[in-house]
Amino acid sequence: MARYPGEENERRFPESVLRDTVARVFAACGMTDGDAVTLADSLVHADRRGIHSHGVLRVPDYVKKLTEDGVDPRGHPRIVSDAGAALVIDGGNAMGQIAGTLAVDAVIDRARSVNVAFAAVRGSNHSGALDWYTMRIAAQGMIGIAGSNALPTMAPWGGVDKIVGLNPISIAVPGGEHGPIVLDVALGATAHGKIRVYAQKDQQIPEGWAFDASGVPTTDAAAALDGLIQPIGGHKGIGLALMVGLLASVLSGAGYGTESGNMVDGATPGADGQFYLAINVAAFRDIADFTAHISRVARQYRDSRRADGVERLYLPGDLEAEVAERNRRDGIPLNDEAVALIVEAATKLGVDTGPLLQAAR
Ligand SMILES: NC(=O)c1ccc[n+]([C@@H]2O[C@H](COP(=O)([O-])OP(=O)(O)OC[C@H]3O[C@@H](n4cnc5c(N)ncnc54)[C@H](O)[C@@H]3O)[C@@H](O)[C@H]2O)c1
Repeated sequence: MARYPGEENERRFPESVLRDTVARVFAACGMTDGDAVTLADSLVHADRRGIHSHGVLRVPDYVKKLTEDGVDPRGHPRIVSDAGAALVIDGGNAMGQIAGTLAVDAVIDRARSVNVAFAAVRGSNHSGALDWYTMRIAAQGMIGIAGSNALPTMAPWGGVDKIVGLNPISIAVPGGEHGPIVLDVALGATAHGKIRVYAQKDQQIPEGWAFDASGVPTTDAAAALDGLIQPIGGHKGIGLALMVGLLASVLSGAGYGTESGNMVDGATPGADGQFYLAINVAAFRDIADFTAHISRVARQYRDSRRADGVERLYLPGDLEAEVAERNRRDGIPLNDEAVALIVEAATKLGVDTGPLLQAAR
């Protein structure tokens, strides 16, 4: 029986069983057990926080990357340049989460000694939801910033060539009693996958999501798929996406935009790039004073006056933190289609999904 409205076609899975099953699927693709758990953890983290687009729904896609599309399941990321606060990491064509884990560990460690550290990653692949990285940095009393290059789906403002990705950025700032403030956004008005869902159902997409191939705003889902995603905030958003992409790729020598692949042929394995930055708060200000100040700002933000009909004001990350609390307690909600796709991918690899299905609540 559904526990919450809208969950009629869903079951809930304890996150430890889900993580274990997904890790066994990735291990069956050739990853080491440790890397497989890391990759599974990134997906379960996203589901826990309600970011299902970057959760275990990705398992079939990631299996394909690891077994058919040229991503190296045994890829071994390493630091190739180490110059004080500046680190360059070659991801070794592993999944982006494996390179990103090395990068996050490295910037946290380095920021403890030199207070600010930046890792530029090349030789990487898809890296998942970026708050997984920035929250780990924030948990150490540091401000975490991460950005990624993404396959190009947007054009320069007024242009029609797909040469800029949705290039997401996440910033996590350590907070007081309510935890960190966590922004995690892609810089397009929507994701390609969401338009595909509307196209499959033959429905119009909302205004403001896309342009057709000639650069005219459209609500026709098929025309949008042939066309372009609109950036957030017009010319400002596309400029921001360009800059995040540059930080995430050109600095390390990773492929930028079209150099990392396209939406028709897919990603070029090992061509992707990310960046990770850690800023050690204690080097600037007493950490207790800092978090008390953040708490005051957070209170003012949440308690400020609301427009008519608005019940609550949320800081970036508030909604996800609430969902995470519930999902940690009650299990991760997955709809039947998502479960079926995971079971199919697992079964093909000889992974027993019995324990997962038995654990469903
Ligand atoms: N690795 C990659 O290549 C890649 C590419 C694209 C996107 N992503 C990931 O996709 C995920 C989804 O990104 P998105 O842009 O679609 O997310 P989104 O549009 O759902 O925005 C999420 C952000 O907005 C905040 N938010 C949402 N509703 C709010 C409200 N009512 N009031 C205040 N704040 C609110 C959230 O707390 C969160 O910080 C992210 O995790 C991102 O890292 C990754």
